[in-house]
Amino acid sequence: EGNKLWGGRFDGSTDPVMEKFNASISYDKTMWKQDIQGSIAYTTALHKANLLSEDEHKTILTGLQSVEKEWFTNTFIIQPGDEDIHTANERRLKELVGDVGGKVHTGRSRNDQVATDMKLWLRDHITHITPHLIQLVQVLVNRAERDKTILMPGYTHLQRAQPIRWSHWLLSHAWPIVSDLDRLKALYHRINTCPLGSGALAGNPFNIDRVALAHHLGFREPTNNSLHAVSDRDFVVEYIFWSSLVSIHLSRLAEDLTLFSSREFGFVQLSDAYATGSSLMPQKKNPDSFELIRGKAGTLTGNLCGFLMVMKGLPSTYNKDLQEDKVKMFETASTLTGILQVAAGAMDTLKVDENACLKALSEEMLATDVAYYLVKKGMPFRTAHGKAGEVTRLSEQLGCPFSKIPLEQLTKISSLFTEDVSTIWNFEHSVEQYKAQGGTALTSVNSQITDATAFITNF
Ligand code: ARG
Repeated sequence: EGNKLWGGRFDGSTDPVMEKFNASISYDKTMWKQDIQGSIAYTTALHKANLLSEDEHKTILTGLQSVEKEWFTNTFIIQPGDEDIHTANERRLKELVGDVGGKVHTGRSRNDQVATDMKLWLRDHITHITPHLIQLVQVLVNRAERDKTILMPGYTHLQRAQPIRWSHWLLSHAWPIVSDLDRLKALYHRINTCPLGSGALAGNPFNIDRVALAHHLGFREPTNNSLHAVSDRDFVVEYIFWSSLVSIHLSRLAEDLTLFSSREFGFVQLSDAYATGSSLMPQKKNPDSFELIRGKAGTLTGNLCGFLMVMKGLPSTYNKDLQEDKVKMFETASTLTGILQVAAGAMDTLKVDENACLKALSEEMLATDVAYYLVKKGMPFRTAHGKAGEVTRLSEQLGCPFSKIPLEQLTKISSLFTEDVSTIWNFEHSVEQYKAQGGTALTSVNSQITDATAFITNF
């Protein structure tokens, strides 16, 4: 076991199954760049603390750059003994520069190293994922702009409720993503503290300037407590929670569209690029993109619960259980990236059937408007609600839509009904009542478009 980083006190060798069970290189190699970035900064910190001579400092930095280049050019060869990315990079560095490479780990532990690598990785990932969220908001806003005039039924309990604008519905799914962007910013702020210099658990005995080290790596400040720093994975939990929330938002959009694309609704048609067919039924065109988004929201939420279970009741400081963090973080990140890309693509290319949306509007959805009509003529809302209910019942009894009920029948229900009641038998008139901020009237849709656009432009 002499070749292991920790082999000194060992006589026997690791069981081969245990060796594989213990290794994380197959997935943590994803962090090769961040691992080298951390080592470069730490080497500089050691040099500034007079633990490395000018020459040693230069040699190590050059060596680390060569290792980095091997990863970059895909020529880094992982050896069977490379337990994790930290072990692999250190092994290779020593091969390239000799024993002096062993000085990089002075006062450092894989415990503060891995926590730092993960934060660096997550920061980079957030930089990558942010444009995908912005893009999705943009797609929804563009569609809202384009499809502003389309009217459709709004639902509560999946029952026809009140007429709304399709654009208002689209924007209702953009705003949660706007909030998710806000949350992401707050999350980034909390991630951005530097664990490096915490050692295995007790701290760093070599007078390392942790503030300079943190700043060198672009962190806001060093972490406050070494015991906490090596065991803290709140940033992973929060990231997985955040991802789950994004995916849950999109699963709700996806659920609506899965329904809306059914023949029974027929409001939308997915583009061929985001649908698939059946191996048996030739006529089928299935909304797999939306179903997968809905399903993957379950998988991500499972990751959240799974990782919370890993964290629950762990003893203080580092425990190997923590190695599970990377599996969850990487899987979540790649699943979420896919969800965001597919959601944006499917939404951008979706066809809306304006007539089908309009045809789904039925006059009983104007019952609220009947009540508002009476309210505007001075009747208390509760009374008006009852009267509009009577009009609905009458329409059912007569088997005719509201607009075809003779006026004299309406006046029997309330004398406030006059000729001008005909103005409310109009869906456009209905949606245009909701002019107060956040409503479905055109002015409100327009200001939502302005506000959402401003948000993503300034983000
Ligand atoms: N591969 C380990 C992990 O991902 C690195 C830290 C190992 N530390 C240790 N003391 N064994 O968590």
